[in-house]
This record gives sequence, structure tokens and C-alpha cells, in this order.
Amino acid sequence: MMLKHACFIFFLSPLFWFGQACAAELPKSTKVAIASAHPLATQAGMEIVGKGGNVFDAAVAVSAALAVVEPSGSGLGGGGYWLLHRANDGFETMIDGREKAPLSASIDMFLDKQGRVISRLSLDGALAAAIPGMPAGLVHLSEKYGCLPLKVSLAPAIRYAQTGFAVGDKYLKLLQSRTGILKSYPASAGIFLSNGKVPPLFSILRQPDLANTLKQLADSGREGFYDGAIADKLVKSVKRARGLWTKQDLKEYQVIERAPIKGEYHGIKITSSAPSSSGGLVLVEALNILSAFDLQKTDTVTRKHLITEALRRAYHDRALYLGDADFIDIPIERLLSQDYAAGLRSTIRPDKALPSSFLAGEMSDPSEGNHTTHFSIIDDQGNRVAATLSINAPFGSGFVASGTGVLLNNEMDDFVSQAGTMNGYGLIGGAANAIAPGKRMLSSMTPTFLENDEVVAVLGTPGGSRIISMVLLAVLDFAENGSPESWVSVPRFHHQFIPDVIEYEKYTLSPAEISGLASIGHQLKETRNRYGDMQAVLWHKKTRSLKGASDRRGSGSALVKNF
Ligand code: DON
Repeated sequence: MMLKHACFIFFLSPLFWFGQACAAELPKSTKVAIASAHPLATQAGMEIVGKGGNVFDAAVAVSAALAVVEPSGSGLGGGGYWLLHRANDGFETMIDGREKAPLSASIDMFLDKQGRVISRLSLDGALAAAIPGMPAGLVHLSEKYGCLPLKVSLAPAIRYAQTGFAVGDKYLKLLQSRTGILKSYPASAGIFLSNGKVPPLFSILRQPDLANTLKQLADSGREGFYDGAIADKLVKSVKRARGLWTKQDLKEYQVIERAPIKGEYHGIKITSSAPSSSGGLVLVEALNILSAFDLQKTDTVTRKHLITEALRRAYHDRALYLGDADFIDIPIERLLSQDYAAGLRSTIRPDKALPSSFLAGEMSDPSEGNHTTHFSIIDDQGNRVAATLSINAPFGSGFVASGTGVLLNNEMDDFVSQAGTMNGYGLIGGAANAIAPGKRMLSSMTPTFLENDEVVAVLGTPGGSRIISMVLLAVLDFAENGSPESWVSVPRFHHQFIPDVIEYEKYTLSPAEISGLASIGHQLKETRNRYGDMQAVLWHKKTRSLKGASDRRGSGSALVKNF
């Protein structure tokens, strides 16, 4: 009788249907919150939890769905970071699925014979594309931490790619900005444009080749992308367009798990991205500098001045020290130390901006950006994922490898092409982030967990170099008891050491604050658009209740669902 009962339960379980043991033996989630940049991606995650998946399976489904329904931001041709927390044993890790430079990449590959940077070479076309980490990341996440086979967790994304979905106005705006480059590659134009033009609002985007590539991944795991027919097509297509990819590049790509960066700010435990992203280190260093100030009690001009000065110093260290930890030594202990922060804090005058040129470097103007993507997931036991994924610029390099539907990244631009020269986000750097074969380019992506005695928050956002300051402002709002809705809506301002200017969204600063900040030596500039697309979820440890919020600057959705 017992056996019969057990058999019946087995028959009902995903194990019977899919033949894979649950890699992470977690109690089933009865409630889950997901916030992502697209309603269909949020739904895909919920669908997979409904099929018996855990939050890590849901993260696979959301990542893959975003690759289809938000192709401007991330995709199989890109990479990213998945920050994980497993509740039953408190295990935490970061899957580093950042792209790598091809093995034949060289330090001067974007320079002309006179040593000058060739404009846009690291941004447009096949040479700008590094070896993708996203497919390997999905396989790793699923096999090591998930319960369900990839065939199940990739099913919603495959369906979206096959049957298509209606495109919205934000997508079309980004598409418009990249029409020029997409038009120059028939495989790209054939998917995204209609007779070389931006298609009408709500037209249906179908991606049958991408559906097939996702199916190969579902059926064959990493070989489905990094070896065999898809790999052949990728390499052939990239080579034809004068890119550097070889079959060896694809075969050798591996994700790597890294210990997340940890910090503490006013009793809040912070867990965030480790190098190859600069996100966690810059965030924690800036918060350490700020920790001795009582920001809630200072007047608003001084508060913004102090935040700016902390960011200036932390981004300065980003430019000096940060890059791929597999290639360079990063003084992590020093950068995270409270003594080091105290030293930097002592150089801040409350009544005067320090020109960045006193630290180093020159001033100039970065371009704007609002692509890449972030999603946050948590269940009622505290299992959680924060993931920021990217192909860099909107629609990446603009180059789709023929017959694969895979839009390639232009992440090579996140390397330093030449010391002191700014990249697409106005970021500078030196040897630490120079191009080298097989190296990961420095990122600013900052998927983050925050925890105090009562709650856990999961958050992050796209936004290039501004990602870190956006997350910092959200942490400060969390510290002042804000809600998920308020973290994602905080009016934003930013300073990144170079250019030496406070950039701010319209309405963030009052006229009095603008003149107050200018009077102590800050330069200020209003951004053309509001920026960022933060996705956040919250779990109350005692009540086990969940909340989520999706930035109204974007068109995402946050859902909480009982199972
Ligand atoms: O890794 C990075 O820091 C960038 N490639 C992220 C790009 C991004 O967030 C674009 N959004 N504006």
C-alpha cells in the first residue's frame, strides 16, 4: 500500500515526467515574487514554478524569455551575472557568465596604425562581439541548481520565439536608435526591421531561428550552442563579417562561480556582484565611505554632495584597479576595508567639491544608455536570484549570425581600448581592464541582495556605468525604510569620477539644490531621458509575505503568486 502510494506520488512528480533529480533539494515554494523588465518574462518564471520548478529553474525561464521578448537588452549572444541564495543551507554564489574576449583578440585591436581609437569599431558589427556566456550560464544554473530539465524551463522562451509577441513603444524607440547598423546586416534586418524600417507599434516579432537555437540548447545542453551545427553557423557568420571567433573560442568558454562581494551598511547586509563586475566593490566602497555620515539628518544639498563625493572616489578606484580577477590582482581587501574608506572620507570637505582632476584623468561626456536587463526572484523561504544580463548597447553589435537568430553582443567596448580613452559609457580605465585573449571585460552590473533582521530585498537594474549609483540610491532608500516601489522610483543622480559632472534626471534636483551644489563647485547636467529599469522584490522573514516592484521608467511587471 505504502509502495503504491509512493509510486503514485512519483508518477505525479516532475521526476517521473522528466527523469531528472532535483539538483537542489529545496522545500517547494508556495509563494513566489518575480519582477522583470517584460510581463511575458515574469509570466514565464511563474509558469515554471507552477510546473514544480524552484526559483533557479524560474531564473532560467526568465533569462531565456527576456532573450526573446527583450532582444534589445540581453540574449543568447550576450552574458551576465546570476547571484544565488539557497535558503536551506544559506549557500550563496555568483555565476559569472560574462563574455570573454576571443583567443585571437589583442590589446590594440580597436586602434589604427597611428594608435588612435577607430570610432565605433568596438561597438558595431562582428568584431565588437565577445564570446557569449549566456547559454553556458543557463545550462549551469539549470543543471547545478534547478529541479527541472532545460527542455521544460526553456519551453516558454521557445514558444515566445515561435509564435511571436507584440512589440511596444519602448522597444521601438531603442530599435530606431540602432536601425542604421541593423540595416547593414541582412540577417539582422530580416528579423527586426520591416523593409529596412522600424515596424509599426504592436506588430508581431517572430524569431523562428532563435527558437531553433534555444531548442538545440534544450536538447543537447552546452554542446547545442558551443559545438555542432549552431557553433558552425556562428563561427562561419562571424568570420565572414571579419570577426575573430573560432570553434576553439566557443568550445573553451566556461562560466565560473565566484564568491559574492559582501559588505554592511548601517546594519544591512549587502551581497553583490564580484569581479569581473565592478558593481559590488564600487557599491560597498561608496557605502563604506558614507557610513559615518548621518545622511537622514543632513540638509539635502549636503546629502547629495556627500553621495557624489563617495561615488567620485569609488569610481576612481574602479578605473584604477578593476578588471577580470582571473587576469589581474585586485586589492579587494583594501578596497573593502573600513580603514581605507575612513581615509577617503577624510578627504571630503562638506562645503566643497573635489575636482576629479585632483584624483586623476580628464573630463568629457558619456553617451546615454538604457538597455541590458535585470530581474529579481524570491520565494517564501528566502531562496532567491538577482540577475543582470546584457548584450551591452541596445541590440548589441547589431549583428545576427545567419541562421541562428542570435544577436551578438558588443561587450568588447567594455574593455579599455586605449588608456584614458572613454568607452560608450564615458568610463575610463587602464591596464587592469585592457584587452587580452580569453579575458572578461569589466562590467558595472550590480545584482544585489540586502538583508536586515526583518526583510530580504533582491534588486538591480540596467544602465551601464550608472547601474552602481542607482543601486546605491536604492540601498539608501532601503536603509530609510522605503518600500520596493520607492527603491525603484527614487529620483536618480550620478557621478562616476570622469566626467566630473553630476548627471541628474529631470525633477531630481530642486532649483535650490542645483544652485547649492553649483556654489560648492559641482558641475551639473540634466540627462536627456530618465534612466534605468530597476526590478525589486521583498520578503518578510516573519510573515513570509512577498512584494515586488517594477520601475515605471520601463515596461516590466512584478507579480506575487501563490502555488
Ligand atoms: O557590463 C556593463 O557594465 C555594461 N555592458 C552594461 C550595459 C548596460 O547596462 C546598458 N544599459 N544602459
